[in-house]
Amino acid sequence: MTTENKKLEDIVSLAKRRGFVFQSSEIYGGLAGFWDYGPLGIELINNLKREWWDAIIYDQENIFGLDGAIIQNPKLWEASGHIAGFTDPLVDCKNCGARHRADHLAGKDTTNIDELGELLKDVACPTCGKKTLTLPRNFNMMMKTWVGPLEDDSSLAYLRPETAGAIFINYANVRETMRAKLPFGIAQIGKAFRNEISPRDFIFRVRELEQMEMQYFIKPDMQQTEYERWRKFAWDFLINRVGLSESSLQWHEHDKDERAHYASAAHDIYFKYTWGFKELWGTHNRTNYDLTNHMKYSGKDLEYFDEETKEKYTPFVIESSVGVGRMLLAVLTDAYHEDEINGEKRIVLKIDPSIAPVKYAVFPLLKNKPELVDKAREVYLSLKKKYKLVMWDDNGNIGKRYRRQDEIGTPFCVTVDFDTLKDNSVTLRDRDTTKQKRMKIEDLLK
Ligand code: GAP
Repeated sequence: MTTENKKLEDIVSLAKRRGFVFQSSEIYGGLAGFWDYGPLGIELINNLKREWWDAIIYDQENIFGLDGAIIQNPKLWEASGHIAGFTDPLVDCKNCGARHRADHLAGKDTTNIDELGELLKDVACPTCGKKTLTLPRNFNMMMKTWVGPLEDDSSLAYLRPETAGAIFINYANVRETMRAKLPFGIAQIGKAFRNEISPRDFIFRVRELEQMEMQYFIKPDMQQTEYERWRKFAWDFLINRVGLSESSLQWHEHDKDERAHYASAAHDIYFKYTWGFKELWGTHNRTNYDLTNHMKYSGKDLEYFDEETKEKYTPFVIESSVGVGRMLLAVLTDAYHEDEINGEKRIVLKIDPSIAPVKYAVFPLLKNKPELVDKAREVYLSLKKKYKLVMWDDNGNIGKRYRRQDEIGTPFCVTVDFDTLKDNSVTLRDRDTTKQKRMKIEDLLK
């Protein structure tokens, strides 16, 4: 099944029906741009995060973890340029009051307000159909809050719009405590918040998101090689560790008008979502922009003394940044398949077994035979010890139980029947081929 034949509504429906993603505050009518992850969603997310943490921290020798606070001193965001420049172009409709992202309406990835104004001159409001749109203006996406009992300018703070901020301001702490020498990296997984003008496409564009980010601090002459290395890291990770198909990915290089205010170069990996190729993972050259500004605003010396060359300079930074929700949606989209087994329609998630939320399901052939149930429970508990999330299902015929596991991407189902009681063998059924084979329990556990 190709992505062209897949529909977002089918993926959304499966995600809800089977406990991957729920609309947040659903019983109160929801809240646009916020989602909750259910029992299987959080398993899949944890598996993705674990793969990333393994690849970025344990497979490398000089990358260190961090978990910074979501709310920091607001000076951080002044120095980083987010208070002045973390904006999206917005147009209002004078007739119906609707607000739209100007670049989305114009169908062009640009932050150039004048160009957008020109492109939208004769465009009607998609909500009311009237040509009553204002000129585009910049809208700051940072979410605000107040720290302490006073709600005034002195207590104003921001929920971080990217996790990177905490990494930059802890650069010297990590360098000193880990006795790190350039090049080295700092990695973090955590929530970020953006007051998106028009959250949309399910969990693709949300207001509360989670990022996996790594900032690699380098000598100035390493920019080109490290930029290419981290681009390759992202591509290889998606194929080898997440199991996405290469045909679903493509590169997109940002031109000058599209780049964030801190970047001198940016390459995104686009994934083929059901509505087209869109950004999944960004690699950016942030130059020495952030550390230079943090030195300026904090008055602290963040320069690096290179013992080899006896020079002092501000490190440059290559950034690797990916959204967890966007990765989850890419996995669900790539894995979603419909086929037919013995004339019956089947929905199956062909998720790579290493990240599948449930690894095995165990079925006693009949639930009213205590000897079968006891034996199946033994197998279930042994598998559970090794593979953590293993499911138990004793309801309905075996075909129906297979279908239920196929829908959530369980790679293997194990059935315990009367022969098991005689020879300690079980039936192992493979999700993708639907083939079954007999095997000894001891071999299964190996
Ligand atoms: N620190 C760099 C940074 O934040 P970005 O391109 O704005 O760069 C990085 O965001 C990644 O975070 C994106 O590639 C995307 O995967 C994810 N992301 C950004 N905004 C998002 C949103 N509103 N909803 C979901 N994911 C988002």
